Amino acid sequence: MEDIIRSHKEIYGEKPLVIASAPGRVNLIGEHTDYNDGFVLPMAIDFRVMVAVSPRKDQNLKFYSVDFDDKKRTSISNLRYKREDRWANYPKGMINVILSKGYRVEGINLTVKGNVPVSAGLSSSAALEIATGFAIRELFKLDISGLEMAMLARDAEDSFVGVHCGVMDQFISCLAREEHVMLIDTRTLEFRQIPLKLNTAKILITNSNVPRALIDSEYNQRREECEKCVALLNTRKSGSALRDYTVADLRDSLGLIPESTRKRCLHVVEENQRVLDAEIALKRNNFSILGKLMNRSHESLRDLYEVTCPELDWLVKRAWETEGVYGSRMTGAGFGGCTVSLIEEGSIQLYKEKIEQYERIFSFKPEIYICKPMGGAKIIYSSL
Ligand code: GLA
Repeated sequence: MEDIIRSHKEIYGEKPLVIASAPGRVNLIGEHTDYNDGFVLPMAIDFRVMVAVSPRKDQNLKFYSVDFDDKKRTSISNLRYKREDRWANYPKGMINVILSKGYRVEGINLTVKGNVPVSAGLSSSAALEIATGFAIRELFKLDISGLEMAMLARDAEDSFVGVHCGVMDQFISCLAREEHVMLIDTRTLEFRQIPLKLNTAKILITNSNVPRALIDSEYNQRREECEKCVALLNTRKSGSALRDYTVADLRDSLGLIPESTRKRCLHVVEENQRVLDAEIALKRNNFSILGKLMNRSHESLRDLYEVTCPELDWLVKRAWETEGVYGSRMTGAGFGGCTVSLIEEGSIQLYKEKIEQYERIFSFKPEIYICKPMGGAKIIYSSL
């Protein structure tokens, strides 16, 4: 925290009044279900983004990223998405949606510093949005609930940044509880905090480090496919999202829905059931069932939803071959990013040996993180 205070002082010549911090996340199971009104099972991880703010006397907004050593600026009346503003579009988007709901926000100096791996599918952008929201809420004493904050951040990503995502990442970054994973019903926004008793097991994340170039367009395209499918299914049985349909409904829709779209939807419908089954397995501490569900999830994302890539498939296969691994799958939106594995601590070395050839084959250096479920966003400094 001292670092971000020092940087803020160096750049703006004044101390921040508030610093907020928000975590990234890993999703254990329930992929591409959250924009279909389905279920997800994420947890916050021990990588966080910090946002420090101080008020200005004018209506300007100044942003500085310590990690990229990059400055951006705009003003309250001029908030627009700009491609070249890259990382700064997230705090800009957040301020924009907060303003659009009628809350009072004035000019600020803002500094960002974090350690959530960027573009790795661990939700560094959601962490940045939520940390910005928390810092601003504290600074201007805004009456925004945790749940509303998550929804505002999702709106920022959707309407400002242009990724039509679900609510999972922002929700968990905001409301996570230490030592718990969260089952979120993304339709009702009800959630259950489930204790994660790992004993000798670990949550191991492997970053494939594959550059994710097409992710936004592929993501939006998947979402559209799901929506089109619902429109077609709706001509036979009423429903507003894939959540309302069963595997049997999809089977009966042969001829009504193009085969490639039907495959996508089958993934979503079956994945929802896997999340509910995973919750039961978790409550019973049955890692072997939980692991199998993770494996089925990966197969489905690979064969039906088609959002994996050779690197992710390779890493997951090596994990499946490692004794002491209960389950392994890609996590996040896909097309690169990370895998998540549930593994006995004593097998981690063996897994590392299994993936030794990754860099030689794919030319990207993999990174491994062992993560514990952490708490959600909070204010870590305030001199108000
Ligand atoms: C991204 C989105 C989430 C979710 C996942 C896929 O992380 O931000 O809302 O859709 O992809 O499960």
